[in-house]
Amino acid sequence: MTGPMTTGRVAADAEPVPQQQEPAPLLEVTDLRVRFTRAGRSVHAVNGLSYRLVAGRMLAIIGESGSGKSVSSRALMGLLPPTAQTSGSARFDGTELVGLPEREMRRRRGADIAMVFQDPARSLNPTMRIGAQITEAVRAHAQLDKAAAKERAIELLQLVRLPAPERRFHEYPHQLSGGMRQRVMIAIALAGRPRLLIADEATTALDVTTQAQIMELLVELQQQLGMAVILISHDLALAASYADDVVVMYGGRAVERAPSATLFASVRMPYTRALLGAIPLLERPSHGQLPVVSGQPPDPAALPSGCPFRPRCGSATDECATAPPFDEHEPGHWWACWHPEEAR
Ligand SMILES: Nc1ncnc2c1ncn2[C@@H]1O[C@H](COP(=O)(O)OP(=O)(O)O)[C@@H](O)[C@H]1O
Ligand SMILES: [Mg+2]
Repeated sequence: MTGPMTTGRVAADAEPVPQQQEPAPLLEVTDLRVRFTRAGRSVHAVNGLSYRLVAGRMLAIIGESGSGKSVSSRALMGLLPPTAQTSGSARFDGTELVGLPEREMRRRRGADIAMVFQDPARSLNPTMRIGAQITEAVRAHAQLDKAAAKERAIELLQLVRLPAPERRFHEYPHQLSGGMRQRVMIAIALAGRPRLLIADEATTALDVTTQAQIMELLVELQQQLGMAVILISHDLALAASYADDVVVMYGGRAVERAPSATLFASVRMPYTRALLGAIPLLERPSHGQLPVVSGQPPDPAALPSGCPFRPRCGSATDECATAPPFDEHEPGHWWACWHPEEAR
């Protein structure tokens, strides 16, 4: 098989032409599955998710609440409860993360992959000055004396463009705005100099202006540090406008995947179209900010056979009782649908 998604490795007899080849991925997720056992029932949270992420790129993972975005990302960091059973593969720079012993995972957490969550107010310790919290994170990753750790902590606050970092260092979380607290959380996540930062709905709790500022910060950091970023969001239009590539998830699997520009130019999967809010099957609240896809998301404890979007899809036919494969139909553009929209 050849094609832009599979040319990461150069054949032995070929001259390497690095500029034209897609580089080997930093993270390659293949058929990732996560199942929870709850009250004797199986909850299929992630059902065969595959994607790849090249170093230094920004990937948006999009989907409605419950589609498996957080669970699939937490699986990469070994942050799931013991009731979770994970299978499949997630290779980070050649190391298999699925099944990695906790001791090894702990060593890599924060140093290879770090995560920022939605609610900085809950993630920060309210009784501890922010300087102490960042210094603690710095010293967890590097053996530095107090003065050097403080210096590095201030550097991190400057890196995330926190205004007046020397003064803020001595303040408590409640003295900062929501946007500033999220900057502090990002600084803490950067303390171990991760090669991949996962931002899980990191701007969702913020107002629109602050949201844009944090998104811009993430793009700047990605470029400045050469770091890969996974942007998890339920807001396709927002995330795709900052990310290089987009994976749309539904019912715990990928249903469409493409470079952002390709996706905006030519959406194929009706669910992706519904998320963008431009098809009549939507019932949009008159003052809502986000398009709402009518109908219920699938129940991960009772997934339908065939295409999981079928019960909500205006294009569904009998054919959709058989699950459509997730294939690369055009170079770099993958989708799982029997009735894709026509290319524009
Ligand atoms: N600890 C858990 N036990 C059982 N089910 C869980 C657990 N955590 C998440 N789930 C279920 O897994 C599914 C995916 O959740 P999640 O990844 O958090 O969705 P989202 O896309 O909103 O981030 C949901 O149906 C959720 O209820
Ligand atoms: Mg989530």
